[in-house]
Amino acid sequence: MKNKINIAVVGLGQIGNYLMNELISKKKDIELKTGKKINLVAVSAKNPNKKRKFKINRKIFFRNPLNIIKTKKIDILFEAIGKSDGISKKIVVNSLKNKIHVITPNKALISKHGDYLSKLAEINKVNLEFEASVAGGIPILKTIKESLATNKIHKILGILNGTTNYILTEMEKTKKSFSDVLKKAQALGYAEPGKPTLDLNGYDAFAKIRILSALAFNNKISKYKCLMEGIENIDSKDIEITNQLNYRIKLLGITELINNKLFERVHPCLVKKDTYIGNVNGVMNAVITHGSPVGESILQGEGAGAGPTSSALMSDLLSILRGNIKYSFGIPDFKRKKINAYNSNNYLNSMYLRIEVKDKPGVLSQITNILAKRNISVERLIQIPDHKKKTASIVIITHKSKEIDVQSCLKNFRLNKNILKRPTLIRLL
Ligand SMILES: NC(=O)c1ccc[n+]([C@@H]2O[C@H](COP(=O)([O-])OP(=O)(O)OC[C@H]3O[C@@H](n4cnc5c(N)ncnc54)[C@H](OP(=O)(O)O)[C@@H]3O)[C@@H](O)[C@H]2O)c1
Repeated sequence: MKNKINIAVVGLGQIGNYLMNELISKKKDIELKTGKKINLVAVSAKNPNKKRKFKINRKIFFRNPLNIIKTKKIDILFEAIGKSDGISKKIVVNSLKNKIHVITPNKALISKHGDYLSKLAEINKVNLEFEASVAGGIPILKTIKESLATNKIHKILGILNGTTNYILTEMEKTKKSFSDVLKKAQALGYAEPGKPTLDLNGYDAFAKIRILSALAFNNKISKYKCLMEGIENIDSKDIEITNQLNYRIKLLGITELINNKLFERVHPCLVKKDTYIGNVNGVMNAVITHGSPVGESILQGEGAGAGPTSSALMSDLLSILRGNIKYSFGIPDFKRKKINAYNSNNYLNSMYLRIEVKDKPGVLSQITNILAKRNISVERLIQIPDHKKKTASIVIITHKSKEIDVQSCLKNFRLNKNILKRPTLIRLL
């Protein structure tokens, strides 16, 4: 690689803005550490007149990022627009085809098109780096690709979404409702305005889980429908009850190999308060890898925000500048395999069920009968009456039960007129 490196930054939003400042202020540091001089030769955003945190040299501003490749000699391009398709995909594809290294924090793009793009990078002998796409500032992808390279990883689990972890933590701390806490999270900038659906329904964490699986198990990015539930239905009542039972609710992303089958899932979990993961609170993310011979290793840090994300982007930049040309998913494309999906119906786990019922004789036995018919045995049962409303919350923690059996009971509960609402199901870790 030559000594003067031409850089383009496409997308000047939260991430692009911060990154620009890093690139400008750390120029000397980068040269000291890599021996390379970086030169910012092109930037692009949608609106040329938007007020930004830094002064834009109009001469290097491009409204259409595709024109950067046509008119400038670029060595490394940052894509920070953030779409899974459209202009984000186009600019990355065009860059790779033109032998330009690409760095991106775009998990939507990588989880959808990562296989194709990494192959394109390999063919063109350039890097496609995406450390910032998973868990922000936590260097989990490099850890898997490099530090744990010869380990056989069989499971990764983590808190991969800071927004939902903040909401769950605040609901426990303040005893406020989901919607009140969501409003506070939005006011503080921890959640996007409007309805941040992809955070709340688990999709954001799932995109990250797919990337982690592909790296950890050397498989192509899975396209399977996964067990995915978010936190929208978690009620402050669940937080309060589980708290008294010495648990916390955490939205976990989990990927593992069970009998050589791939099981990826994202859902709220009950975790014991005295565990490590039970104490990762607020906007923090954490990722736990289980591998052999390394055993269990844990990384924790800020999973989002412009600072941590830029830290990961800069680390990818230095990796490229040092000439660390490597496969995006750790191994050559033709060696990456397809792993069959584990049938989630067979997932065996203890479950927490909260069932809102009319408070009258016989209802409890109707519930336990439905459970017994599917061989689900009860480990703990708590009844909390509301005398004013003549209703009761029945809370059950089951012994280990099959997912398919629990789902079948949930269907039966829905047919029972004494059950007032769709019951809440939370799996134990
Ligand atoms: N924000 C975080 O904390 C975070 C954390 C981890 C990863 N990420 C990832 O980082 C990426 C960027 O996120 P962000 O929060 O910075 O998004 P953002 O604030 O919405 O910024 C998007 C940028 O893309 C520009 N843009 C949109 N369409 C364009 C087009 N056709 N041509 C050129 N530029 C265009 C926008 O231009 P204008 O400014 O002119 O509107 C804006 O500067 C996403 O992939 C996201 O998932 C973000």
